[in-house]
Amino acid sequence: MISRRELMKTALSGGAAAALTVSRSAHAQDENPWARLVGTYGTVPPPSFARPLPIAPIKRPTATTGAGDDVQLAIRSGFGQPLVGAKTPILGYDGLWPGPTIVAIRGRPTRVTVKNELAEPANIHNHGHHAAAASDGHPLDVIKPGQSRTYTYPNRQSGGTYWYHDHTFGLTGNHVFRGLAGVYIIRDPAEDALGLPTGPCDVPILIQDRLFDAENGFDYSANAGTIFKGVHGNTLCANGVHTPFLSVGTRRYRCRFINGCNSRNLRLALGNGGALVQIASDGTLLNAPVSQTSVELAPSERADCIVDFGAAKVGTSVVLRNLDATWPELPDVLRFDVVRKEADTSRLPVRLGDVARVPESEAKVHRRLRFQISDGKWTINGLRYDPARIDFRPKLGTTEIWEIENGEQTQMHPFHQHLIPFQVLDVNGEPPPAVHRGWKDSVAVPPAGRVRLIMRFYGYTGTYVFHCHKLEHEDHAMMLQQEVIA
Ligand code: C2O
Ligand code: CU
Ligand code: CU
Repeated sequence: MISRRELMKTALSGGAAAALTVSRSAHAQDENPWARLVGTYGTVPPPSFARPLPIAPIKRPTATTGAGDDVQLAIRSGFGQPLVGAKTPILGYDGLWPGPTIVAIRGRPTRVTVKNELAEPANIHNHGHHAAAASDGHPLDVIKPGQSRTYTYPNRQSGGTYWYHDHTFGLTGNHVFRGLAGVYIIRDPAEDALGLPTGPCDVPILIQDRLFDAENGFDYSANAGTIFKGVHGNTLCANGVHTPFLSVGTRRYRCRFINGCNSRNLRLALGNGGALVQIASDGTLLNAPVSQTSVELAPSERADCIVDFGAAKVGTSVVLRNLDATWPELPDVLRFDVVRKEADTSRLPVRLGDVARVPESEAKVHRRLRFQISDGKWTINGLRYDPARIDFRPKLGTTEIWEIENGEQTQMHPFHQHLIPFQVLDVNGEPPPAVHRGWKDSVAVPPAGRVRLIMRFYGYTGTYVFHCHKLEHEDHAMMLQQEVIA
């Protein structure tokens, strides 16, 4: 591991240690007194729907043996084309934004060797992956410039949609904003047998908001305002392009929506009021499809939705909108253009997964976490992240209930747990909606609200973090760590 001091120095030089000085009384009177500190958003660019939705290349293994797949990734700078005109300098896995999509098969390990070709430390965290601590991408376990590391992903967990991203201490927000994120899919033969849309009709859609400077470069700044509210952009990108279109046939599609925004909530809906039929939440299939007119996603949450164009007329279009009201509002995501008649051989079964609810009586340990501002800093239980301190010591093979309270009135915090998934017992005392009754790895804790989660510590001992997934909150130390002990 890189030394703590070394990393702190890097984080500081990146401007990531700007002070968050916010007093409780200051924001009691005003809805958004930080708006003026957050930066100049300019105007939200109108949708163009002029370029196709890019689909990241599927990463080809360099070796495939009985023992799994070997994959090589390089973290390097490159260029994206989110806007028309000048290209945007990015940091990317393989120099791409989003990085290549890694497709694994349940039960077959994937070993990913990552070379850091940047001049600063970076790493990879496979969000939602159940892996040994050495392969988790702990915030202080970074790859030094010029060095390589091999991460082993066992893929012994539910098939579904995951994503990978940088997790460097104090620089995660900066690195992810500049492009260090990609999609990780675990395919499960049992899921394949369901007959859901596949191949080109199975579309990962990584949604991220960005802010640009006059030369189309990313404009990321951590200051008191953005550390408080989180960095928000004025331009929504899907797979690295602002308001693209996707040409579709008259059939079902599986859209794997991922909220990859640093801090922005999304509420996705079809412009014609049509159904988004959710089949999976985070990495796990729901027991049954849930038909909705909108799908809410906090940062890092995923929703796999079936969108059926079977009744649509060739030549028509449907815009995917974002109804979330976070300022500045970004109402357009992409446009589906129905361009051809196509027979549909896919199915949408009434039964999908087999998640059994974990009984509360199974938990012997109850913990409380309070997300709050203390002394003008983001904290959990009044504590900021300290790599030298172990905050919780859960025992391997046991079940715990965590009650997370949001002590903040003005914004939600998305809680994310590493290593193991959880089930949501209740949100503000009410049972969770059907789409949140499976296994999840991130959940929104509403303003002044409370969420109870139940989780089983299984598989690995070692040190793993948990944190707010607003990346500016996480970087400014709204993160603690647990050591899972035998
Ligand atoms: Cu998506 Cu700790 O991360
Ligand atoms: Cu994670
Ligand atoms: Cu937060």
